[in-house]
Parts: sequence; structure tokens; C-alpha cells
Amino acid sequence: MIAIIGSGRVGVSTAIHCALKELDDITLIDVVEGLPQGEALDLLHMCGILGIDIDIRGSNDYKDIAGADIVVLTAGFIRKADMTRMDLLFKNSEIVKQVSEKIKEYAPNSKLIVVTNPLDVMTYIAYKTTGFGKQRVMGFSGPLDTGRFKTLVKRELKVSYKDMDVPIIGEHGETMVLLPRHTYICGKPLTELLPSEKISQLVEETRKMGAQVIKLKGWSASHAPGAGVAVMVESILRDQKRVIPTSVYLTGEYGVSDVCLVVPAVLGREGVEKVIELPLNDEEKQAFMKSFETVRNAISQLKL
Ligand code: LAC
Repeated sequence: MIAIIGSGRVGVSTAIHCALKELDDITLIDVVEGLPQGEALDLLHMCGILGIDIDIRGSNDYKDIAGADIVVLTAGFIRKADMTRMDLLFKNSEIVKQVSEKIKEYAPNSKLIVVTNPLDVMTYIAYKTTGFGKQRVMGFSGPLDTGRFKTLVKRELKVSYKDMDVPIIGEHGETMVLLPRHTYICGKPLTELLPSEKISQLVEETRKMGAQVIKLKGWSASHAPGAGVAVMVESILRDQKRVIPTSVYLTGEYGVSDVCLVVPAVLGREGVEKVIELPLNDEEKQAFMKSFETVRNAISQLKL
């Protein structure tokens, strides 16, 4: 069973995408009475129409996540257009801590995917609170940021998304690090396909894309995050071992420790089965260290 904590737009979008992939039964949880039950009923009817043979339930009680193989944590405040993800630090850290305690109590054998912002810090809190270990706690954002970058690359090069290999590392935030040198399209690095000023422009656009979505539609992205989380859930439940940029608790990889940051990771039955270390040049290393300092600094402001 997949348990989704938080039945707002991201939680529901995650449920839709997991259902469309027919991954497993789904339990939606929320503190608002009626909301998870109502969304679950609506989604169940969707399954009836599409012939998707899974069960979907809603509940206000954490006991109902018992037996979950994967828990997706989406609970928390979302940012407004004039906020950075870090502005949610204090508001969401308490929520993530409390919910992580519940997950530890009721679904002690689950794998946990954190979606709440600021993502890397919230993943760190969930890692510390649950004590599940670095294989079973991970943060979602990589498929979202690389997906956004891919749309821009496609706009320039008119090549299918399917033939793009786009890694990303660092913070899911202002200091995210795309790696054009390691971005391959049919065997060619992006740096040989586009001029460097154009690449810098696309990277900058990607960084601002989350805020752009909020500015235009009035609230935070949900369709793309839901689709991205489902890709991670699928890789774990079906043991696909896909390499997905994931926020992981690092213990020396990329030269840093005691922090969660996005790195390419193999996701399979055990959760984070391997971290892949890309060879970074000085500029890329510096950019990654900026992410490290930003997230470490945020962590040091919290009482954990
Ligand atoms: C975004 C938020 C969800 O990037 O972090 O859209």
C-alpha cells in the first residue's frame, strides 16, 4: 500500500499518477475531516471508469497507514510567489517532525519520500526523526527540476525527452546545480549542442520555474510534482533500479556529510540502493558546496 500524507493538490496528483500506473492500493491521510475521504472516493470512481483495479481510501487517522510499503509526505504549507522555499523553514519543520513521528510509529518498515519544502531540510528532519536510515528516507524534487530543464532543452533542440539524460545535484532551491557538461542528448553533451550563454539562460529559467508557475496560476505546482513522485514510487515498488536525482542523507559522498542534498541515486526495492558520484570540475564543485552551505545553515537554525 502507498500512503500519502496530505490530501492537497500535490497529494492528490501523486495519487492520480500512482493510480494510472496501477502501482498499488492507496491511502490518503489529512487532518481536515472529509477531505481525504472525499478525494479518495472521487479517485476510486476514476479507477472505476478507467478499469484500474486498486483500492483507494481516505482517513484522518494515522493508524491507517499501518502496513504501508511507501509513505509520501506532502503535508505542510506551500509558498507564495514572493517567497523562496527556505521561507517555509520554521513553519514546515514542526509539521514534518510531527508527521515523521507518526510514520515511525505506524509504518515502521516503510520507505519514506518527502515532498514538503524546503525539501532538503525537511528530508533531513524526516531522516533524523524516523531513524529509518539513509536507504529508506529520500526527498523528491529531482524529476521535477530536470523535467523542467528538459522542456527548455526541447524548445531549443527539438529532440524527444526520451533521448535526454539530465542529471542535477545540490539543493532543491535557489542554488540547485544543473550539470550541462553531464547532460547528454544521444551521446553528445549539451555543451556541444548549445552556446554557453544559451545554456546559462536555460539553467536560470529552470531555477525560477517553480516561482513562475505560482505567479501564473496562483498556487504551487502540483501536476508535475505528482507525476515525478510516482516515477520514484514506481522505481521502488517495481524494483526498476532507475537512476533518479534524489535528496539523500550523505555520508561522505561528493565530499560532504550530515546533510541531505540531491544526488543521482539508484532507486529499487531497498529504497536508495546506491549514490552515483559524477566527476565534478572546480566550478561544479563550488556550486555544489554553495548548496551544501545553504542547507547546512538552514539545518543549524533548527532545534532538532
Ligand atoms: C516547485 C516547488 C513545489 O519547485 O518546490 O514547484
